[in-house]
Amino acid sequence: MIHPVQTEQNAQSTADLSPLTSLQPAIIAIDGPAASGKSTVGFQLAQRTGFLFFDTGILYRAVTWAVLRAGVAPQDEAAVGRMAEQTIIDIGPAGNHNDGRQSSVMIEQQDVTWQIRTPEIDQNVSAIAANGLVRQALLAQQRRIALHYGHGRAAQPGIILVGRDIGTVVAPDAPLKIYLNATAEERARRRFHEQQARGKAVDYTRVLEDIYRRDKLDSERALAPLRPADDAIVIDTSTLSTDQVIERILAAARGKWG
Ligand code: CDP
Repeated sequence: MIHPVQTEQNAQSTADLSPLTSLQPAIIAIDGPAASGKSTVGFQLAQRTGFLFFDTGILYRAVTWAVLRAGVAPQDEAAVGRMAEQTIIDIGPAGNHNDGRQSSVMIEQQDVTWQIRTPEIDQNVSAIAANGLVRQALLAQQRRIALHYGHGRAAQPGIILVGRDIGTVVAPDAPLKIYLNATAEERARRRFHEQQARGKAVDYTRVLEDIYRRDKLDSERALAPLRPADDAIVIDTSTLSTDQVIERILAAARGKWG
């Protein structure tokens, strides 16, 4: 079960995009491989538009954390599926934590915000995400949240979902679909610097290997594989700044919503 909570950054009213959002669901779907810039771009885009930011990768990471903590074998499909159904994941504002987090992630009152970002989770999450029972359990929750926020039933004028299958499976009706990409080397460099900034001892070659491995698992899996939706705008972020990517998406959003 998932309880998203409005984040502080979304509380500020902004949105030159809000007036026309009632005409079609105000949903921006952002997909792409690991470290392609989805979360950074999605988070800042939310600040610019007032839309709620929802990083769906958190759910798969949180289930992976719960599975490993419980000592359940990741390959035990039924047991892992049950964990996805039963684990209560709360996503809320960063609050007073001044440690670079975009939101706080809680499982049973335990703050797991950083525990779900370790190399151990990186190594196991794609296998958990390929489990059909896990995807089924998390899909229903993501759709419920997307529709609630996308149809103006909350204070925010819309929602930005980031993940792997948002444009293709979770919200195929989203009027604006973005697919971010970058070379594996550039993405590994970004992930390497992120881990270093958090004081973790990391090896670039291992980060790169993990990126290759996860790309392969995510794009070759049978269920909801990573791929751009047919009508997605594909942006290669390898040589673009975050601001440049955001400006491109905002320009497309203005085109959609007036
Ligand atoms: O931040 P990073 O791009 O490394 O990963 P993430 O977005 O947190 O997602 C972690 C993993 O969850 C991905 O490698 C996918 O296996 C899975 N995932 C998915 O299958 N579908 C989504 N909508 C989001 C994540």
